[in-house]
Amino acid sequence: MKRIKRNSEGGGGDAKPVKLRRRVDLFSGIALIVGTMIGSGIFVSPAGLLERTQSIEYSLAVWVACGVLSMLGALAYAELGTMITSSGAEYSYFMVAFGPFPAYMFSWVSTIIIKPSQLAIICLSFAEYVVEAFAYECPPSPFVLKLIGITTVALVTLINCLSVRLATTIQNVFCFCKLLAIFIIIAGGAYKMIQGNVDIFADSKGEQPSLGNLAVAFYSGLWAYDGWNNLNYVTEEIVNPKRNLPLSILIAIPLVTLCYVLVNIAYLTVMSPSEMIISDAVAVTFGSRILKGFSWIMPLSVAISTFGSANGTIFAAGRLCYVASREGHLLDILSYVHRKNLTPAPALIFHALIAQVLIFGGNIEGLIDFFSFTVWIFYGMSMFALLLLRKTKHDIARPYKVPLFVPIIVLVASVYLVLAPIIDNPKIEYIYSILFMVAGAVLYVPFVLYRIRLPFLGKITQKIQLIMKLVPPTSMPD
Ligand code: ARG
Repeated sequence: MKRIKRNSEGGGGDAKPVKLRRRVDLFSGIALIVGTMIGSGIFVSPAGLLERTQSIEYSLAVWVACGVLSMLGALAYAELGTMITSSGAEYSYFMVAFGPFPAYMFSWVSTIIIKPSQLAIICLSFAEYVVEAFAYECPPSPFVLKLIGITTVALVTLINCLSVRLATTIQNVFCFCKLLAIFIIIAGGAYKMIQGNVDIFADSKGEQPSLGNLAVAFYSGLWAYDGWNNLNYVTEEIVNPKRNLPLSILIAIPLVTLCYVLVNIAYLTVMSPSEMIISDAVAVTFGSRILKGFSWIMPLSVAISTFGSANGTIFAAGRLCYVASREGHLLDILSYVHRKNLTPAPALIFHALIAQVLIFGGNIEGLIDFFSFTVWIFYGMSMFALLLLRKTKHDIARPYKVPLFVPIIVLVASVYLVLAPIIDNPKIEYIYSILFMVAGAVLYVPFVLYRIRLPFLGKITQKIQLIMKLVPPTSMPD
């Protein structure tokens, strides 16, 4: 395989550079953030979060705090994104701030854990809502849920392997549906309140959660907010990024925060906290109580919303894996592209297979903890990168600069989010995550540093290339 050198800023340099057009204006920037953030979380996390905080007051406070933390994180990313303008977000920032090894570690963890677990969680949530729509008599069996989740992964993968245009169309249409679902819930809640159902705190126990429980409650909430850094993957394509990147963040994240808090209040206008905790699909319970004959709208729109998120997530995942393998950081075959469809099919299928294994072996809550523990290590590292770059690279222009307290707060929060659950209630998921990271670090030495190529891998690559009609990225037809 031909290795392609990255440019000095560590971004995705190509053999023959293609200039990306700046097409993402303020509106699309906001849509990109809102569209990624609103997915499955607001329809599945409220129950888990309430269970973990054991109080309505704390649960609402955590929802707001998650919004504020995401906002501060995103603002720090705005400084990084306007300063290091190449694509790849964390990958590029680590390359510039720390060098190739941490950048490689990010690509490895992102390919093996972060992206597949995002996909697994979203597809399992999809399954839960689809099944909930039909299961009137008894609760659905976990096996059926897993089977539907695994099939959904296969379906979104197929769509993304077949056509980029099909995938982006689905993304746009389905984005509308999720906003509709959120709107229906908020309007329903408002209606109930007007009817006089205002004392949502009446049932609250008001107990104080432990520090570790609070951290995992944050995991549930932060899952719903994840995606706040999404605009940083396309900084090169933003019109006037100096203005539009921070402005999109400043508008999109408070908007999502407001929606989430209102949705939570709306849920509580029709069900008690204990009812909410036992409901597997809160939005469906909500719909059946408030929409009566039209209650089918709720599971349908949530299913569409989660399907859209799964589609968007694998779309981005395929791209990241493709770039990292093109850099020689992952298996060569993962950088190959389908000859006719021009989609990174092997990378997509690779992610899908890992996601399916995760669905088979896990559940939504466990996977959210596994994902959040891992991803917050890297968000924290990005904050550290920002602080380090202030010291080591004064010469790079910073069109947008955040006050120092912003990355410091997010860094402290990420240390807490990573350490508190391990200390308070260590789970096997955290150990798996650490083991995967160690495995990645071990593989780095022979395969990336010394670029050892195993002969049988070359043969397998050739076979797969023939069967799947793939071409290496450098010989892609125009
Ligand atoms: N916040 C989204 C949800 O609630 C998940 C976003 C996953 N992250 C991503 N970058 N696609 O489902």
